[in-house]
Amino acid sequence: MNKQFTDKESAPLGNIEEWEDDLKIRYPKPKSEQAKAKDDYRNYHDSERVDTVRDFYRLNHHYQTYDFVTKKEQEFLKFDKKEMPFWEAIDYLNTLVDDSDPDTSLDQLQHLLQTSEAIRADGHPDWFVLTGFIHDMGKVLCLFGEPQWAVVGDTFPVGCKHSDKIVYPEFFEGNPDYEDERYNTKYGIYEPNTGLDNVKMSWGHDEYLYQMTKNYLPEPALYMIRYHSFYAQHREGAYDHLLNDHDREMFKWVDKFNPYDLYSKVPVPPDVKALRPYYEDLVAKYLPDTLKF
Ligand SMILES: [Fe+2]
Ligand SMILES: [Fe+2]
Repeated sequence: MNKQFTDKESAPLGNIEEWEDDLKIRYPKPKSEQAKAKDDYRNYHDSERVDTVRDFYRLNHHYQTYDFVTKKEQEFLKFDKKEMPFWEAIDYLNTLVDDSDPDTSLDQLQHLLQTSEAIRADGHPDWFVLTGFIHDMGKVLCLFGEPQWAVVGDTFPVGCKHSDKIVYPEFFEGNPDYEDERYNTKYGIYEPNTGLDNVKMSWGHDEYLYQMTKNYLPEPALYMIRYHSFYAQHREGAYDHLLNDHDREMFKWVDKFNPYDLYSKVPVPPDVKALRPYYEDLVAKYLPDTLKF
């Protein structure tokens, strides 16, 4: 548990979905969803909402330092917190309920199923469907008492200069790495085009699930999981100077995945019971029975 943070610092958002709601406003779906985007935009200008999102990013940008990420890796990548069969983990994740915003919110399982069902409907390979289905399971970090800004939020490289294409770049001025000469140049501790595998990202649900599943899924799936919140790159191209050619090839998959994550919300919630047998088989095909958290 993180006793070094106050409750307000640990949970600046009413719930963690507010980060994704904000993403949809920042990156509205082109054309067909304009009307919806307009609606969201109205909500967005509800000033309280903007303030919580701003607070969230301020904390995220202040505290996600190179050392912080290293500490979190040591803490969580031993996977010694909990062992759960896959479906128990889904139930566990689903206890992350949103009680403050009943209108807009799906539970976690519904978001996962809407994402994966949209992928399936487009005829993509089964491992891509599975990726949609599990991509946010790393959010269980919240249930281990982690602050929201160390679970969700746009991710970005640490150990080098923060791009001004990251949302609210001005908040990085409060980050100790901002003044640290090892970390505050364009390349920082990295070589030009070193490849993202050599680059430490800010800590959150993406890296955590990637590390948990890296031995079980094809490489494009792993890129989608690991970098799906790296908006500064997949939407803005802000870190081209760190990517190698292989990353560029693989980011085509990250790009392909993103619309399913952001825009797959449909009015009718998925029929969890009817879909479960298909997903049980799919999970059994690729993943071990029990996951270590
Ligand atoms: Fe996510
Ligand atoms: Fe998601």
